[in-house]
Parts: sequence; C-alpha cells; structure tokens
Amino acid sequence: MSTLAKDLSKLITQEEERAGLQTRFRQKFHLMPPVGWLNDPNGLCQFQGVYHAYFQYSPLNPGGGVKVWGHYTGTNMIDWEYQGVVLYPDQPFDCSGVYSGSALTEDGKMYIYYTGNVKLEDREDYDYINSGREANTVLVTSSDGQHFSRKKLLMTNADYPSDLTLHVRDPKVWKEQGTYYMLQGARTKEDIGQALIFESADLTEWKFRSRVETEKPFGYMWECPDYFETDGVRIFSASVQGLEGEEWEDRNVYQSGYFEVDGEILGEYGLSEYRLWDYGFDYYAPQSFETEDGRRIQIGWMGMPDCEEYTNRTTADGWQHCFTIPREVYAKDGAVCQRPVRELDARKQSVRSAHDRIEAEGYAAYDLIISDIKDSRFRAVLGEELVLEYRDGRFEMRFTDQDQASVSGGRGLRYAAMENVEHVRILADVSSVEVFVNDGRYVFTTRYYPERERICVQAEGAAIQLFEIG
Ligand code: FRU
Repeated sequence: MSTLAKDLSKLITQEEERAGLQTRFRQKFHLMPPVGWLNDPNGLCQFQGVYHAYFQYSPLNPGGGVKVWGHYTGTNMIDWEYQGVVLYPDQPFDCSGVYSGSALTEDGKMYIYYTGNVKLEDREDYDYINSGREANTVLVTSSDGQHFSRKKLLMTNADYPSDLTLHVRDPKVWKEQGTYYMLQGARTKEDIGQALIFESADLTEWKFRSRVETEKPFGYMWECPDYFETDGVRIFSASVQGLEGEEWEDRNVYQSGYFEVDGEILGEYGLSEYRLWDYGFDYYAPQSFETEDGRRIQIGWMGMPDCEEYTNRTTADGWQHCFTIPREVYAKDGAVCQRPVRELDARKQSVRSAHDRIEAEGYAAYDLIISDIKDSRFRAVLGEELVLEYRDGRFEMRFTDQDQASVSGGRGLRYAAMENVEHVRILADVSSVEVFVNDGRYVFTTRYYPERERICVQAEGAAIQLFEIG
C-alpha cells in the first residue's frame, strides 16, 4: 500500500467508525455507503460463490468528493457486509479519483478495469473537455476480491481515437469466443456521445477495434456503457448526457436506457429506439453481471447527478444515496423487463391480502403486489405525498408537495405513456420506492422522505397482497 493510501485508509476508517448513522432515513435492505457519498455500482460479479458489489465512494464528503472504491460482499444480493475501501487514488494516473469500472473473473482470478481520473490544476485555458484532464485505463487483479495487485496502466488518452475529447471512461469487459472485449463511454470533439470497443487476446494488451454509434447524434456523452444478451435479446445500455427538447423535457437531467441490438455489436448492427431503464427520479449508471446460475442482474445508482431542484434530506445526516435493489433483467414476449431478485422473498412476511383497496400504516419496508388490475383502475398514495396513478394513458409518479423540505425533497412529476396497467409491484424501503409496472416493463424509482408511513391503494377489482420486509 502506498503511503498516501495508508493515511487515507486510516482517515476513512476513523470517519466510518465515528459516523454512528442510526438516522431516520437509513434503509433496511438497500446498499448504502457506510458514511459520506455513494454513486455508481462498480465491479459487480459473483466470484467463487460470493457476490461482490464495489461502489464509487466519497467517504469524507457526503456531497461527493474524490472517489475511492468501497466494497461490499454477500451471498444473497440482499444482505451485504461492508469490507472497507479497496482502491485509493494514489498514483499519478488516478490521482483525482478511482472512477468507474468493471470486473471479469476467470480461472480463480478477478480482473478489475477502471478509469483513473486526472484533473490537472486549475488554469484558465483548460476547459476540462479537450484540455486539463486525463482518462486512463487501469487494471488490477485479485484472488479474493479484497486484496489487489499493483496497478497497471493499460491505456491513456493517446491510445484512444484522435477525434475524441478527453472524456473517455467506464470500461466494461466481457469475453466472447476466446477474445476479450472492452466498452468505454466517450464524447467526440463534435460533442457526440458514443461507445468504443477495444479487444484483447490476453486481458492486458488492448487495441481499439470499433464503435457503437447511433445514426443521428444522441446526446454529447455516453457514460457507463454495457452490453449483454438476455433471453435472446441483445442489449446495449448507456447513461446518456445531453438529451434535450421534446420528449426529454419532462425527464431527468441525464438518462439511463438501452438500445436493442439487431445484428452483431462487433460487426454489422442496427440499434432500436432508446428505451429508459427507469422512468422515476433516481436512477443512473446501472451495471450488469451474470450470476453463476445464469441470471442477468442489473444494479443502478439510486441517485441523479447535477439535479439542482433536489435536496437529498440524508445529506444533513452525513450520508447520501444508495443502490437500487439488484434486478433480474429478462425478456417477456419480446419486451425487456426487470424484477427484484428472487432472494428478496426470504425476507418477506405476508401481512394482509385484500381486494379493491388497502389502507395500512406503520410499515417502513414492504412489498405490495397489485394484480389483475381491471380497466387500468389504479391509484396509490404512499407517505401521504407520493402519488402513483394511471390516468390519461400514462402512469404517473408524482409528489403533491414540491418543497425541498417535504417528502419529495423538491421533485414533481415523472410519467410513462402506456396502453394499460395490469400489474403493479411497489417495493418500499424507509426512504426509497421502486415501482414495477406490468411485470417490470416499466419501472419508476425514487427516494422519498415520509413523515408518516401510510399506504393507501385504490384499484377496484384487483387483488392486493402486502408483505412486510424484515
Ligand atoms: C457516472 C460517472 C462515471 C464516472 C463516475 C465518477 O455517474 O460520472 O462516468 O466514472 O461517475 O464517479
């Protein structure tokens, strides 16, 4: 360990021990930072039977600061055990932050690829797009997921195509027919978002191969790209910055979504229209991995960068943000859907079944399943101020009070147009709500800060089941 990492480690441990975060908005089954700030999920994998979830972590600053990688492990994707910080920004090529990346596991070894972020000192002639920064691709390896080899610098900006700005990051690596491939998100000098594909025969020597692009420009930067296949559907995922106007007007500042890939991502391909992974307020930078039993699991950051109207009410308590529940991504009748991992069921206890309507109070963490909804008649109010409702051909998630000190933290309305609503599943945990509509064809995620834990659902003709999550 470098001298800097040793001191940082000591400081961070002190901060974590001092934190005493038994505050009201801490959640029961979502992964949160021990203290300070969390953003993207990184290095997700199942390795020798154990799940590893690393995360972008600023332990010394709940408002976000220099990034290290925190580490959680678990055996069921619901109960996580914190293992400490594994990567510090202690080298010249990652000194402004150990940015996002991914894991590939093979023959008892974990290979972690990440972006070493370097921001050069303030100078007026730096715009930090074409000058003043570096994005380095770095490799570390481990045989236990906790102790890592020395960092190896694999690529610098000089190794990326010359029509790009300095914004290139978030390597996601996979193997196909004996060759390794790496996606990276990028911004061109013309401010067009795209992804790069690199290839390697030995996991160390990488060369640029091709790009993933849309026919027409689509945003100025793509972050955290991902590629996988599930139930025969090929999916290219990207978190896109810079979508403006028309259909993006009533949406989040940045988007996370996917294109279905028709053809070969490594050869000739066409991309479908872009569909959002989530239509709520808090969802960004998802990453996926495959479990040993063959499921495609995706975890998102339940947060949103650069969202000015929002005050996260946990910041005053010394921490901010969490991950979504790990979600199984699957295709049903050709449509890409998401559902909470089935491991959650072991934590659930049936509380009540009802028809038409339900009112309940005092449950902070619950799974509420409303099925056989008739004629799309559905309306729910949670915590007295969060309304979920189908009306005028769209499903809405909205807060009745937009004050930053209210349940909403300052947010208003999100929606998705859909023909009808047949099934709604609401997964709530103290200060978060994830709503899976029509078997997870549409998902809405938000943080919320309820004063009263009240549930109220009206859905005439529907069957309702309420489970408490312990
Ligand atoms: C996405 C992102 C990544 C970057 C990381 C830094 O939220 O901006 O592109 O690697 O966060 O924390």
